Amino acid sequence: MLLNFKTIFWENEKVKILDQTALPAKVVYQTITTTEDMAQAIKSMKVRGAPLIGVAAAYGVALSTTLQKDISYDEFKKRVEKGITMIANTRPTAYNLFAALNRMRTILENENDPRVAKLKLIEEAERIRKEDEKICQKIGENGESLLPDNSKVLTHCNAGALATSGIGTALAPIYLAKEKGKYIEVFASETRPLLQGARLTVWELMANKIPVTLICDSAVGVLLRNRWVDLCIVGADRIASNGDTANKIGTYSIAVLAKENGIPLYVAAPSTTFDKNIESGADIPIEERGEDEITKLPYGATAPQGVRCFNPAFDVTPSKYITAFITDKGILKPPFKQSINRLFS
Ligand code: MRU
Repeated sequence: MLLNFKTIFWENEKVKILDQTALPAKVVYQTITTTEDMAQAIKSMKVRGAPLIGVAAAYGVALSTTLQKDISYDEFKKRVEKGITMIANTRPTAYNLFAALNRMRTILENENDPRVAKLKLIEEAERIRKEDEKICQKIGENGESLLPDNSKVLTHCNAGALATSGIGTALAPIYLAKEKGKYIEVFASETRPLLQGARLTVWELMANKIPVTLICDSAVGVLLRNRWVDLCIVGADRIASNGDTANKIGTYSIAVLAKENGIPLYVAAPSTTFDKNIESGADIPIEERGEDEITKLPYGATAPQGVRCFNPAFDVTPSKYITAFITDKGILKPPFKQSINRLFS
């Protein structure tokens, strides 16, 4: 039985989020009442993971309608547009954020009664959340067949239930394989600097009684070279039309090592993570985050004060290292330009 927790939900014109910065120590829900607070929650990674960022973005825009009473359409529109811009400036890499904002913008532009627009914007945000839940289930169903009984899987960062409003992307096939009675073991890389693998992936896998071993990021080479895993499954933040994939920093290293050692690497992602406007990985904006994430941990300094840091949150894996994409619309195999193009036709 899958652990039943909600990462985000709308309640009485407010949004409740599971604060992921408190995990694994505490399960804490925070109530978000304004677009500003939602922008902050996304930036500070209280909510994170591309699909969940998309849902949070939509709810963030919906919140910009809730405190508005008896105002003109122009004023209403201005405030919602301000909300959209504010959310767009939170995290640049996850395409789901921009896909969700585009949907919210379209609703706004096609309705000129503020009261109706408000209801429609809230409905659209709810729809985006529900769709994400279904998409995860589909990814799980499509990917489950790639997991033989008794297999060992390496995953990176957290692309599980915590990164979505459903059962996750990279972890979805694992959850469904377990439900079918297969024995699957997972290796989770800790994912420096914010430890999404150690704090989040391990937490949700243990809660779901999936055997998991935590490794340092620097241990993936030895794991792959010795073939202690049968396959790798990772998530994605944005996928270009040619299949180049941005995902958590460290994914590229895993991909090259997997190829070198003849181990398949699958990218599990919703169709909403594919950016058809971008030709290759070179055009994907990569978020750079603060130095504190590298130099400080909650229990103290990890480096001398003042050291120069480089802290990209994501890297791009060229599509030649990817065996296949597991999506809600099926498994996409090379040549990726063609198979990805079919997603949009
Ligand atoms: O910085 P994060 O924690 O938002 O990064 C998350 C990832 O890189 C995930 O692998 C990706 O968003 C896919 S989540 C289903």
